[in-house]
Parts: sequence; C-alpha cells; structure tokens
Amino acid sequence: MAKLGVNIDHVATIRQARGGEEPDPVAAATLAELAGADGITIHLREDRRHINDRDLKLLRQTVKTKLNLEMAATAEMVAIALSVKPDMCTLVPEKRQELTTEGGLDVRMAMQGVAEVVEKLQDGGIVVSLFVDPDTDQVKASNKVGADYIEIHTGAFADAKDWKAEQAELERIENAVKLGVKLGLGINAGHGLNYTNIKKVAALGGIEEFNIGHSIISRAVLVGLDRAVRDMVDLIKYA
Ligand code: PXP
Repeated sequence: MAKLGVNIDHVATIRQARGGEEPDPVAAATLAELAGADGITIHLREDRRHINDRDLKLLRQTVKTKLNLEMAATAEMVAIALSVKPDMCTLVPEKRQELTTEGGLDVRMAMQGVAEVVEKLQDGGIVVSLFVDPDTDQVKASNKVGADYIEIHTGAFADAKDWKAEQAELERIENAVKLGVKLGLGINAGHGLNYTNIKKVAALGGIEEFNIGHSIISRAVLVGLDRAVRDMVDLIKYA
C-alpha cells in the first residue's frame, strides 16, 4: 500500500497570517502522525514565507515517522539540511513570486549542479529525491545524477480541464513511474492531489508515497486534521 506524507506548510501559512505563534506546525505534525500519516513534509523556502528554521529544528526532534524537507538546491539550504539531517530532501525549483512550486526541477539542464548537491546530501546520510515532471528525459536524468527517488509532479494531471486531458496526463505519470521503477528509482508523487483525484493516481501502482498538503489542510479547517488525514489514508488504501 502506498504511503501518505502530509505537507504541513499551510498550517504555518495560517500562523504567518498574524505573525504569531498559532497554529503550530509542530503540533499539526504530531496529530497527522497519530492519524496515520507515514511522513511529514515541509518546504523551507528562501523567503521563509511559511515554515521557518525553528519549525524545521523542532520537527527534526519530534517527528517519529519520516521528515521530508523540500528545498531549493542552494548552498544555504544544503548547509541547513546537512546540519539538521532530515530523513529525506526533495529538491524543488523555487521562484520568489510563485504561489506554490510551479514546475518540476529541470535536471536535464543542470546535471552537474544537481549531481553535486545530490552527492553532498547523500554523503551526509540523507536520502535524496528530485521533484520532476512526468517526462522520460527528466526521469533518466534524475537517475544519471544519482538520485535515490523521484517525486513525480502531478500538477498538470490535477489541473486537467477535461477527461481526455486528464487521461493523457495520467498516462504520462504511468510511463514515468514505469521508467523510474525500471531504472531502480524509488517513486513518490504529489502536487494538487485531493480527495477526488487521488483515486486514479493511487490505482496506478508503483508509487511509494504521496505528498499531499493543500487539500488535507483545507479539509482540516472544516472537519479537523485527524479526520482529514484518516480520510486520505483510507482513499489511498482502497484505491
Ligand atoms: N510535492 C512538492 C514537491 C511540493 O512542492 C508540494 C507543494 O508544496 C506538494 C508536493 C504538495 O502539493 P499540494 O499542497 O498541492 O498538495
């Protein structure tokens, strides 16, 4: 059965709306784990717009499952990761003005730079994943630079406007999963997944873990985090 990594960035987004101390993403992580999450994912952005350095340090001490740090492949972030030692680092592209991560990492265009970062993190005992579009060239490049995992960007699938476009995106994801498995990469997936569209992606098989944030935290505002996480765990389990 595929696993669920809960992205708790938006708990911190609500905290930052008032610049105070609540809600605390550290408390949210514990509740998500108690409700069955297999991992906790956070994105420490250059501008610290939601998760901050204090959250990362405390989560490293309190997360009992697996801590996955999404980060840009910059010298600052590599130094932080090597000192805090999350279980996994997922390298993502980062633009200051974007609302959320817009596209996958262009591994093919930056092979050497990405390979160096992958090696540094792995030397520090951290498992490295690369967030890439479901594109065969990017999957091959991820393997070449020595990544342990890829996280397939499911945003285009989630944004598809009609059934035909959705099927085409699902096929791209399926092909990327198959190629990744063949190359020996571990496969995660995420972005834009919700309580409706998760069923189709989870039914594909071959994906080890889904990283889901916005839809879970949105539902949690209405029904509570425990229920929101349990509902998603069940959908993945029975897909
Ligand atoms: N995976 C990656 C690499 C991301 O950058 C994000 C968004 O922070 C997610 C998964 C989760 O996406 P969403 O919030 O749309 O579920």
